[in-house]
Amino acid sequence: MFNSVRFRITLWYAAALAVTLALFSLLVYHSLAKSLDENVDQLLAFRAEGVADALETYLQTERIEVGRASASAAKGGAFYKIAPELLKLHTDDPRQAAVDLRILDAGGRELGASGGRAAPELPERTLREALRGTAAYDTIRIADDEGTEEIFRSYATPASDPRGAVYIVQAYRSNYHTQFALRNLRLMMAALVPLIVLLTGAFGMFFARVALRPVADMARAMRQITAENLSLRLKPPRTRDEIRELADLFNAMLGRLEDSFLSERRLIQDVSHELKTPLTILKGELEVALKKARTAGEYAEVLQSNLEETEKLSRIVEGLLTLARFDNREVKLERAPMDLEALLRDIAGRLAGVAEKAGVKIALSAESPGLRADGDAGQLGRLFLNLLENAVKFSPRGGEVGVRVYSDGGRPAVKVSDSGAGIPLKDLPHIFKRFYRADSSRSSAGFGLGLAIAKSIADAHGAELEAGNQPAGGAVFTITFPG
Ligand SMILES: Nc1ncnc2c1ncn2[C@@H]1O[C@H](COP(=O)(O)OP(=O)(O)OP(=O)(O)O)[C@@H](O)[C@H]1O
Ligand SMILES: [Mg+2]
Repeated sequence: MFNSVRFRITLWYAAALAVTLALFSLLVYHSLAKSLDENVDQLLAFRAEGVADALETYLQTERIEVGRASASAAKGGAFYKIAPELLKLHTDDPRQAAVDLRILDAGGRELGASGGRAAPELPERTLREALRGTAAYDTIRIADDEGTEEIFRSYATPASDPRGAVYIVQAYRSNYHTQFALRNLRLMMAALVPLIVLLTGAFGMFFARVALRPVADMARAMRQITAENLSLRLKPPRTRDEIRELADLFNAMLGRLEDSFLSERRLIQDVSHELKTPLTILKGELEVALKKARTAGEYAEVLQSNLEETEKLSRIVEGLLTLARFDNREVKLERAPMDLEALLRDIAGRLAGVAEKAGVKIALSAESPGLRADGDAGQLGRLFLNLLENAVKFSPRGGEVGVRVYSDGGRPAVKVSDSGAGIPLKDLPHIFKRFYRADSSRSSAGFGLGLAIAKSIADAHGAELEAGNQPAGGAVFTITFPG
């Protein structure tokens, strides 16, 4: 199960999802935290600046109304009383809750505060900045009596009196709410991300099982296929996907294997059969000869007949050996450009005696004299010998065998035609097979290896060897060499 594709796919998928979700959560968390902080900062500035504006307006009006610079006003006497009122006015609105405000004098002394609790004290540096006219943010920690720490965000901005005194307005807010919201979000993410990954993994596992079920079915079917029942086929899934393609390819491969397996079997059968006949004859003749004493002439006759059968046997074995060597690619071709017409003239010459005996004429014609093909003269000689031998063998007395050397669109080619009965259509697809003989020629001498060997030689040369019939009757074999 842990080694299954299904498990691995699910695992990778879940891991990728976990990483993606974690990154996404981090991003969401940080951008939320950032925007919450920014919101608080904006709110603090807005509130503090509002109060500072109101304060400045108040200080100005006060100066106009009082007219002369009274000593008490210079010390901010009236202002001390007004500061808490001012702050109250600005913090009464319940919608504006959670932000506390303070007004401090230049020394950092509190003149008024809206919050009931201990306020975060401004650091020295912020005080100095404010006196210089610059507003500043701070994050201030306060430990309460029980030792728990509370963090405040604070904004301090100066408000100046036309007479030159400077006051500081501080707006601050505990970040408790923000932290609370963020902590909730963290908890939710920590719980949800693994849950989502687990759920998706479970779904993934399920879907992978559904998607891969045909593979499991195929594996089960494959287990039943052995050499003895190569005719079994996988049932391809109804889908049109990769698995279907795999099943089809596997079935096609089985088909090819079955074909070659069957043809190997048939070959063994054919070989045994072909070898059996001459061996039976040999054995029979020898047994008869040994039954009683014979004259020297009778012995010679038996031996002569034995020799013929032995020759047949060795021809079969030799033919098979040649085919096996071609099959195993053991035959090394000694390629050289050779004159096709000269080669065929030589072969026709070798068959002249046989042809004359059979009363068949061999007519050689060359449309392109001197046409050369790249090949092994010895092997090609054998190929043409087999073709011409057949042509002579299957032509009636008085018939003619035509050999034509020509160029087929730049490719050297040779046609061997005869005036025999031709090849029955049903036999045409098989005649290059080993030991195949058309029924009508069963009685004729030969084992059905000649064309198989010719085909192997043609294949080794990359040439095409084709069999057909002429419209006027008689078989025709065409070999076309690569250009
Ligand atoms: N020119 C032809 N005319 C008619 N049939 C042919 C011709 N050449 C081949 N055949 C058919 O093809 C079969 C196979 O030919 P092939 O040359 O392989 O075998 P063979 O001539 O019977 O035996 P071998 O060549 O081994 O002596 C022949 O038995 C015959 O039926
Ligand atoms: Mg032959």
